[in-house]
Amino acid sequence: MSILIKNGRVITGSDDYIADVYIEGEKIAAIGKGLKINAERTIDATGKLVFPGAIDPHVHLDMPFMGTFSSDSYETGTLAALHGGTTMVIDFILQTQGKSLHHALEEWQGRSNGNCYGDYSFHMAVTDYNDETRKEIKEMINEEGITSFKTFMAYKGALMIDDGQMVQLMKEVKAQGGMVTVHATNGDVIDSLIAKHKAEGKLSPLYHYLSQPEITESEASGRFADMAHYTGVPAYIVHMTCEGALNAIRHATTRNQKVYAETCIQYLILDASLYEKDFEGAKWVMSPPLREKKDQEALWAGINQGLVQVVATDHCPFKWEQKLMGKDDFSKIPNGHPAIENRVELLFSEGVNKGRISLNKFVEVLSTNPAKIFGMYPQKGTIGIGSDADIVIFDPNEEHKISAKTHHMNVDYSGYEGWKLKGKCKTVLLRGQVAIDNGEVCIQKGYGNFIKRGKSRGFI
Ligand code: URP
Ligand code: ZN
Ligand code: ZN
Repeated sequence: MSILIKNGRVITGSDDYIADVYIEGEKIAAIGKGLKINAERTIDATGKLVFPGAIDPHVHLDMPFMGTFSSDSYETGTLAALHGGTTMVIDFILQTQGKSLHHALEEWQGRSNGNCYGDYSFHMAVTDYNDETRKEIKEMINEEGITSFKTFMAYKGALMIDDGQMVQLMKEVKAQGGMVTVHATNGDVIDSLIAKHKAEGKLSPLYHYLSQPEITESEASGRFADMAHYTGVPAYIVHMTCEGALNAIRHATTRNQKVYAETCIQYLILDASLYEKDFEGAKWVMSPPLREKKDQEALWAGINQGLVQVVATDHCPFKWEQKLMGKDDFSKIPNGHPAIENRVELLFSEGVNKGRISLNKFVEVLSTNPAKIFGMYPQKGTIGIGSDADIVIFDPNEEHKISAKTHHMNVDYSGYEGWKLKGKCKTVLLRGQVAIDNGEVCIQKGYGNFIKRGKSRGFI
């Protein structure tokens, strides 16, 4: 199959020009003005933006968590992602404490293999670091193409590792050429605040927020950065929410250390006032919680200062009946919110249209940087000759509204219900196939490939 995309405004992390893009098979084969090539299909992109498929490096599909499973399967989640311009996701495998990494990999493969519409990869969450696990790190990197290892400094008893394990893991990952990523919040302090609030009969979603004050994140982020500095491992903090955590990595730069940081779309545009809506606040119960306006400002500035390299989602949807598990106790509300379909259009509307970030920065944080940091560049993350033809054709002027009635995620509410956006994904290509065309699905379940990743491309 060959496709010629004519006259679009091509945006990459660094460039912005009008051109034609010619695709042969799965790859971009030529880029130029007025290309005279006969293609099997021509798409007129006049007046549209043409940018690389977005990569969401932080999603949880069909994940066992807090006594239930996140409600998007690999099928529904990757399809919803494509509708919203995200052509690839990186999901998290969770090691069960007492079992091997390979055991967890097989479990996750069992749910994902053959079920994805979009391309995907995994981070491996190491929840039990020991001599056996140590041997598996090298195999994960060299044989499975899983080069990033997630750690939790919270969720004690299920996912959290202690600092001793963290340092040992970091040393091994460094030796094997991988990266350590982290959920950086102080689990002990959070657990004590949860217990205190419960003992006082304070059980509403607001107390989820009040049990995770900013200090729990800034302290853990600084501690993680210090351990990464000591071991020399490439390090990445997921879902950063606040000024304090940002300052912890700003401090790391003073000793010439780079700690990559990811924020998520919700932390840029939603704030903690939503927890004052009684139990409806459960829609936004996630960890870390939404923060204050001053934190939003700090994060937008952090993106422009190059301290925050990625805007992800931490997509971890639960239906309302699942959220109701915590009706009488905020600590039982499954943590997470849906956004996999909305991230690109929200960031365009709230970020680019409101003058907070440039178009190039938009592409950089949604696609180019995740591809570089997680070892997929230039196969993914750019529009260049030889790159996978993962392409979004985007109408910057189309106005639309977010609603659970029209979204494709398997969840019966939206955290952004009624939000009016300007800018819409019209046609989405994945490896040279039109996957979504004006809301119509044009590929089959199973088209999505598992992408083996290489080592991180180094400092950005
Ligand atoms: O609330 C969240 N973030 N749920 C998913 C698990 C995690 O901590 O990323
Ligand atoms: Zn987390
Ligand atoms: Zn997460």
